[in-house]
Amino acid sequence: MTQQPLSARAAGPLRGRLAVPGDKSISHRALILSSLAAGESHIAGLLQSDDILATAEALSRLGAVITHLPDGRVRVLGRGLGGLTPPQGELDFGNSGTGARLMMGVVAGQDIAARFIGDASLSTRPMGRVLEPLALMGARTEPEGRTHLPLTLHGSEMPVPITYQVPVPSAQVKSALLLAGLSSPGRTTITEARPTRDHTERMLAIYGAAITVTELESGGRRIELQGEAELNPQDITVPGDPSSAAFPAVAALITPGSDITLENVMINPDRNGLFVTLEEMGADIEYIPRESRAGEQIADLHLSFSHLHGVDVPAGRAPSMIDEYPVLAVAAAFAEGDSWLRGLSELRVKESDRLAAITAGLAANGVDFELHGDDLLVRGRRRAGIPGGGRVKTHMDHRIAMAFLVMGLASEKPVIVDDGAMIATSFPDFSGLMRRLGAAIDQEET
Ligand code: S3P
Repeated sequence: MTQQPLSARAAGPLRGRLAVPGDKSISHRALILSSLAAGESHIAGLLQSDDILATAEALSRLGAVITHLPDGRVRVLGRGLGGLTPPQGELDFGNSGTGARLMMGVVAGQDIAARFIGDASLSTRPMGRVLEPLALMGARTEPEGRTHLPLTLHGSEMPVPITYQVPVPSAQVKSALLLAGLSSPGRTTITEARPTRDHTERMLAIYGAAITVTELESGGRRIELQGEAELNPQDITVPGDPSSAAFPAVAALITPGSDITLENVMINPDRNGLFVTLEEMGADIEYIPRESRAGEQIADLHLSFSHLHGVDVPAGRAPSMIDEYPVLAVAAAFAEGDSWLRGLSELRVKESDRLAAITAGLAANGVDFELHGDDLLVRGRRRAGIPGGGRVKTHMDHRIAMAFLVMGLASEKPVIVDDGAMIATSFPDFSGLMRRLGAAIDQEET
């Protein structure tokens, strides 16, 4: 694919209102659960990004009928549990780890085989964390023992119900096991030492599955799902994505004179680590409650330019803001004093090695940092200013691209990212929407 370099430069305050696109996690799950329900579901506000289109295409190849309606909603004619059919051709998940891993859970719970493929970034990402517990349930990988795409997964009509402690904090692993467990003749029990995003649990309950969640004294959670479930079709409205809202939010906080409102953002305690952290840094954020959507609390966020100061982010907060560290590192660079971002090991296995990409981007733009194992220390430069002027390698990672474009909006010299094409995986028209707020983000010559 040809690279699309973009540049961002300082050009005055950001002002106005912006409806951020639909939440990516909920969009994947709405398509999947609607396809597993017997009958017709409607999804409003579905994220129309490359990752979500890949999941929709995969589900279509497995027999669901997905139609874009003229009013913007998406209609899904679901096949019912056990009703998916062997796919015509390969399932291509592009850049999307969530799509690939969740759909492994779906295929594992059906008597079908499917070949999973993805782009260069996805093909390096670890799949063993999902495939190992799915093997305990009866799924089989071909070639045997393979832990990266491409691979073929053979599901089982009657997956063994398992009791499993997820070894890494991962909502994707948890969700894959729950999706496979839907077809199990018995109870699937999953524990997680640290809570991760709970959208699958909430949405399974909405679609009619018998699921219970117990908060453990240790701080973790136990999730129990009764198998051989029947899912009922639903009409769902997808909330705005807090992980996409993060970029205009930080842009407004670091750009003098800014004052913006982000509409209909999901406020889920398992997702709001960034906003908690920004408030600890002195951010001026007002929450205006709105009507709930998809079982989630919603608010408009009103943010204005703030004098941020350094912060110490504990490792335990990482699951609730795992996708937000690139843009938090940018906020920390504009803060007064040092910030510690702790417990970042999972960043090494995202769309890129995000820890390496963040530190390279900071270095390219004149920001000092120290890496102590999995902990990152960012030396804030509020008084000195951020020199900028760097050309940042994005490594096929949408969030690295957006984070460093945000940096360029308030640095002395423009920041260039080598490729903005991947932004379409999660935030289509990011540049256009940011420009409407007043941001100077432009195409660069290749
Ligand atoms: C997601 C879970 C997270 C997150 C990803 C979306 C999900 O991944 O990074 O963008 O929708 O379940 P892990 O569960 O692997 O941490």
